[in-house]
Amino acid sequence: MVTTKSMASSFTNRNNIVWLVGLLSILLVVSDVYGEPPSVVPSACKRAYAASGGSFTEDFCLSAFNGHSAGAADNADLALIAVDLATANATATEAKIDTLLGGSGAGALSEGLRLCRELYNSVVHVYQPKCHAAVKDGRYVDGKLCLRRTAQAPVECERWFEQRNVSSPVTREDEILAKLANLAIALTSIA
Ligand SMILES: *[C@@H]1O[C@H](CO)[C@@H](O)[C@H](O)[C@H]1NC(C)=O
Ligand SMILES: *[C@@H]1O[C@H](CO)[C@@H](O)[C@H](O)[C@H]1NC(C)=O
Repeated sequence: MVTTKSMASSFTNRNNIVWLVGLLSILLVVSDVYGEPPSVVPSACKRAYAASGGSFTEDFCLSAFNGHSAGAADNADLALIAVDLATANATATEAKIDTLLGGSGAGALSEGLRLCRELYNSVVHVYQPKCHAAVKDGRYVDGKLCLRRTAQAPVECERWFEQRNVSSPVTREDEILAKLANLAIALTSIA
């Protein structure tokens, strides 16, 4: 009788320990997930997409901020990050155009690239610094006007090639910059 009882009790104790360890690991996982402040990105992307008129997708917004939203507390913070993502992108494209131009002389392709280089030069060195300052200071009307000029530059670059039936070597880059600028505009409008 005693043996049975102590066996039963030790069985119960072991079960309790297994149960406790299980509960503890669940708690650890849960606290890991909720230990960080909730990201503002998903709801911002949903609202930005709704405000965008379809110039980018919700997925584009999510992936653009992936790894770049640390410390962002609201839509205004995200708008400023989007402005800076556009600047970084345009800077890289300007360098790519320089490289492409380095290897070519005359011809329609270089002529188009030279126009695009002018456009990207204005984006990187004239518009974007102004857009950053405006959004940072909460001057959202100015910010949006400025970002629209940035969004227009890659459209003009592409149009040059389209009108001459020359295939653009920077179509992908142009599309991304237009989307990033439109993302920044949409976030600015809901900041
Ligand atoms: C440009 O933006 C795209 C889309 O978010 C991203 O995949 C790419 O890494 C960016 N490139 C640079 C140089 O910032
Ligand atoms: C443009 O280029 C494509 C492919 O090279 C050709 O089929 C088409 O006829 C061209 N169109 C014009 C208007 O030159």
